[in-house]
Amino acid sequence: MDKFVIHGGKELNGSINVSGAKNACLPLMAASILVKGKNVIRNVPNLRDTRTMAKLLRIIGADVVFENGVMEIDATKADNPEAPYELVKTMRASFYALGPLTARFGKARISLPGGCAWGPRPVDLHLKGIEKLGGNVTLEEGYINIETDGLKGALLHLDISSVGATGNLLMASVLADGETVIENAAREPEIVCLIDFLNKMGADIKGRETNVLRINGVSELRPVEFEVIPDRIEAGTYLLTAAAVGGDVLVDGLDPNHLTAVTDKMTEAGVNLEVNEKSIRITSGGRLKATDVRTDIYPGYPTDMQAQWIALMATAKGKSVVTDTVYEDRFTHVAELVRLGIDVKLKGNSAVVNGVEKLKGAPIMSTDIRASASMVIAGLMAEGRTELHRVYHLDRGYEDMENKLRGIGADIKRESGPEV
Ligand code: UD1
Repeated sequence: MDKFVIHGGKELNGSINVSGAKNACLPLMAASILVKGKNVIRNVPNLRDTRTMAKLLRIIGADVVFENGVMEIDATKADNPEAPYELVKTMRASFYALGPLTARFGKARISLPGGCAWGPRPVDLHLKGIEKLGGNVTLEEGYINIETDGLKGALLHLDISSVGATGNLLMASVLADGETVIENAAREPEIVCLIDFLNKMGADIKGRETNVLRINGVSELRPVEFEVIPDRIEAGTYLLTAAAVGGDVLVDGLDPNHLTAVTDKMTEAGVNLEVNEKSIRITSGGRLKATDVRTDIYPGYPTDMQAQWIALMATAKGKSVVTDTVYEDRFTHVAELVRLGIDVKLKGNSAVVNGVEKLKGAPIMSTDIRASASMVIAGLMAEGRTELHRVYHLDRGYEDMENKLRGIGADIKRESGPEV
């Protein structure tokens, strides 16, 4: 298994580019099942997760070609409405196949995702919604089976504004008979991107950027060409990296409107920010101020940026409390960060960080995508050598991370090791 070897404590300087958004791209790829003909999706990041989704689409029977950031998906001959355990267990987002498969084939067989490194992560809202649209849902040998005589529009109220459930129910309802209303829908930029994609295909979805979506079922969709939005979490990760390590860094090719909650918090912590139309420049000032963060659904501070904030606060002056209200158990990074000298303790769904003067390198282990990102930040802050093991987690969600970071002067390299 590959590891990163990092020699930290060096200033970062230069410009770093943001890739297309993984979490926007995965549902678009799944939505391609809804049409016959070739969809062309641009700005697709080359990641383990996008390649896993491509593998799933091929199992379903689609032709997929992925080259130079462009993915062509032709699901004309798709004939196998199934998402097998082997793929769902490596990437929960495979569950996004549920809505489009049911819409296209009137049936689906999808492995039930289990727990994940940071807690139970249920899919009850996806299934309740599909049932209300007329799907008959049963569980057999770890698989969800859905049968239907054709989906019918319905009023769907989500108890929690889940991103995944909103995406799945949108994809299920665009071809349903009649009107569907999704109340308390998620309005994350990745959902807005999916709405734009589906509407370009000929769907009739109203309420973009709000939490009430009205979908008028149409009888057919057409293939499209579409560009994925920039990855706000990758962008935010590099913004916090620059702020934590110091120097003069331009994070380029982002949408600042998607990052307001993060940049507001950075400003509160004393980070020097210059926000441009499509880029943000960070220049070091003095020691940062301890600043509390509470994650929330969009437009709140993202849970996918919680771990990185803990790393930023490691050397800030004072005590900060970082609370996750979206995923209350999402703190596997804490025990690893302690190994680098961060003074952080868990209290319920909060991490309490007491800022220290400096961190010291150590061997640490990746646990999930964003947790690992916080470890890279902390490794770059720390003096001496940090070895970050199991970087395959990062490969799921960060395109070419070590080369991008090397481009702004980070001393980080990948060392390959045997698969275990
Ligand atoms: C997506 C993102 C993930 C991000 C999360 C929250 C993708 C591929 N992943 O995950 O990176 O951290 O949004 O922004 O886009 N819930 C239920 N029942 C359900 C579904 C969700 O109780 O049926 C709960 C979850 O346990 C969690 C909350 O709702 O507490 C939000 O989860 P959700 O928005 O669904 O996250 P994902 O779509 O899985």
